Amino acid sequence: MSELNRIALKIISSGKGILAADESNGTMTKRLESVNVKSSEENRLKFRSILFTSKNMMDCIGGVILYDETIRQTFEGKTIPEIITQTGAIPGIKVDTGAKKLAKSENEKITEGLDGLRERLKNYYNLGARFTKWRAVYTISDQFPSKLAVETNAHALARYSALVQEAGMVPIVEPEVLMDGKHSIEDCFNKTSEVIKKCFDALIFQKIDLKGVILKPNMILPGSNSNKKYSTEEIANLTLKCLMNSVPSEVPGIAFLSGGQTETEATKNLDTINKLNKSKFIMTYSYGRALQQSALKYWSKNTNDVSGTQKIFNHRAKMCSMAALGKWTEQIEKA
Ligand code: 13P
Repeated sequence: MSELNRIALKIISSGKGILAADESNGTMTKRLESVNVKSSEENRLKFRSILFTSKNMMDCIGGVILYDETIRQTFEGKTIPEIITQTGAIPGIKVDTGAKKLAKSENEKITEGLDGLRERLKNYYNLGARFTKWRAVYTISDQFPSKLAVETNAHALARYSALVQEAGMVPIVEPEVLMDGKHSIEDCFNKTSEVIKKCFDALIFQKIDLKGVILKPNMILPGSNSNKKYSTEEIANLTLKCLMNSVPSEVPGIAFLSGGQTETEATKNLDTINKLNKSKFIMTYSYGRALQQSALKYWSKNTNDVSGTQKIFNHRAKMCSMAALGKWTEQIEKA
C-alpha cells in the first residue's frame, strides 16, 4: 500500500469523515456575523478550538481541513495541527485561493492558486498537513456549466493534484456543482456526471495516483428553488448511479460536501446512500455547515460555554459517523 493510499484510508475509514473548517476569513466573517459575533482572529480561533478539542473528534473525525490562518495558530501552548493529530485525526489545508471570474465566459468561475503552489505546499507539509483541498465551483442553467468552465477547472484540479502528490500529500478533489437555481434533479445528475468524468480524464492524463485521491462531490439534488420534492431513496440512488458511472474504481473513497442542506438532510441522505451502496467506494462526509451550524448558533449566545457547545458538536459528529456506516436512525437523531 502506498503512503498516499494509507493516508486517504485513515481519513475516511471506519465511520470517520472530514470536518471542513477551512472557511476563508471572508466566508467565516459571513458565518460569524450571521449569528452576531465579531469576526476577529481571536473569535475564529476560539470557536474552532472548541470543536477540535471535542470528545467525538476521536471516533468520528479522520481529517480536519484548515485555513491558512488556523494552521499557524496555537491554543493552550500547542499548535492547531498538534491538537488535531492528538485526537487521531489528520490535519489538512485548503490551498486554492478562491474562485474568480473565468475570462471569456459569461460569469462562470475558475479556481485560482496554482502560482507558487509548490513552495506553499512545502511550507504546509512542514506545518503538519498531510492532505489538501481545492474547490472548483459550477452553476447549472440552460447553458451552464459551459465546456470552457468544465475543461479549465478540470485542468486546474489535475495540476493541483499533481503538485500535492509530489509534495507527499493527498489531494481532495472538490468539483462542487451548486444547488442554487431552479434546475431539476435530472439536470443535476447529468451535469455533475459530466463534470466528474472530465475531472478524472484530466487527473488520469496528468498521471495522478488515483489510490491517493479523495473525491469531494455534491449529492444529486434538485435546485434549491425547484419546487419538486424527492424521496431520500431517489436522491441516494441517483447519487450512487452518478458516482458509479463517473469515478474510476481505484479511488478509495468519496467524502460529500453538505452544500447548503440542513444538518439532518445531509445526515439522512448520507445514511441512505450507505444503506444502498453496493460499490467498494467508501462514502462519507466532508461537511462544513452540516457539522458546525447548530454548534455555532449555540456558541454565539453562550461564548464561554465550551462544554455546551461541544455537546452539540459531539452529537452532530456522531450522527454523521452513524450515517457513514449506514446505521443512522430518526430515533438516535432525537436521543
Ligand atoms: P459545506 O459542507 O458547508 O458545503 O462545506 C464543505 C466545503 O468544504 C465546501 O468547500
